[in-house]
Amino acid sequence: MNVKQLNSVARAMVAPGKGILAADESSPTIKKRFDQINTESTEENRRVYRQMLFTTAGAEQYIGGVILFEETLGQSSDGEVRFPKLLASKGMIPGIKVDKGAKALAGYPGETVTEGLDGLRERLAGYREQGAQFAKWRAVIDIDEAKGIPSRFAIEANAHALARYAALCQEADIVPIVEPEVLMDGAHSIEVCQRVTEEVLVEVYRQLALHRVVLEGTLLKPNMVISGKKCSTQASVREVAAATAQTLLRTVPGAVPGIVFLSGGQSSEEATAHLNAINAMGRYPWEVSFSYGRALQASPLQAWSGRPDNIEVAKDAFFKRAKLNGLARSGDYDASMESAA
Ligand code: 13P
Repeated sequence: MNVKQLNSVARAMVAPGKGILAADESSPTIKKRFDQINTESTEENRRVYRQMLFTTAGAEQYIGGVILFEETLGQSSDGEVRFPKLLASKGMIPGIKVDKGAKALAGYPGETVTEGLDGLRERLAGYREQGAQFAKWRAVIDIDEAKGIPSRFAIEANAHALARYAALCQEADIVPIVEPEVLMDGAHSIEVCQRVTEEVLVEVYRQLALHRVVLEGTLLKPNMVISGKKCSTQASVREVAAATAQTLLRTVPGAVPGIVFLSGGQSSEEATAHLNAINAMGRYPWEVSFSYGRALQASPLQAWSGRPDNIEVAKDAFFKRAKLNGLARSGDYDASMESAA
């Protein structure tokens, strides 16, 4: 394991002003997104759509890394340059989602554990050959207070799998993005989200230590601490920022180079405003950035709508979100910028 190299890749992805584009939607997920714009999810349409994002001029000022799905790792641009090579040539580090999704956790109805560890060592060697320098594994923790969810067992099972994945990545000189996502679905309050997120992160860092994962060569991709979508009281931007910062300061070791939030179903504007408020609120031992999927892609996806003549406006829409999130990295975003061209 080359710790120096792992650390420098991790730091490059969260360099000042930069974050990560999560473009690693699995085939069923990208189909859902394409259904919304009445576009068929063919291999070629997926290639064209992702090429549009990757070739947006100037996006590399704000995007330090791109998470790809396995299919995209092997696809090429119109000019027949493999996507990992194309991204790297623009200074955007290519990475790969390696988990096989959250599956029902036997014995614990309503809960899931993420699968994909079997054969992962061999898969990682192949991804590295194809140019991936980092990986992502998403664990999903649901909240359902009436059902006593999440159980302690589900938190431990998911943290254990995340740590095994992270150790395998580092063995292959691939930076693991550790993503324990506490879902914002449900009617729970921000206080409940905070309690669960803290419990999850404490367990994740306990397991990472047990698995001898070198924290300097990792990134954390957590949820923000936020009110459940169906909660009657929605916390303000300031409250979300304060609770999120408090939770992360309590649980994430300073050796971690960066924290890159998922957007998790927040609107694009909310995700940017929250990131901005967290960064405006204080200085932290780690870089605080983004690894957004929907919050970076919702507007370009809509603008594109599957039509070749919309590609330029869609690129503009993507550039705008990348730039505004880049500004939110340092607390320099303002909501008034949303209406500016
Ligand atoms: P969202 O930002 O859409 O939540 O996606 C991020 C991601 O990679 C989820 O695994």
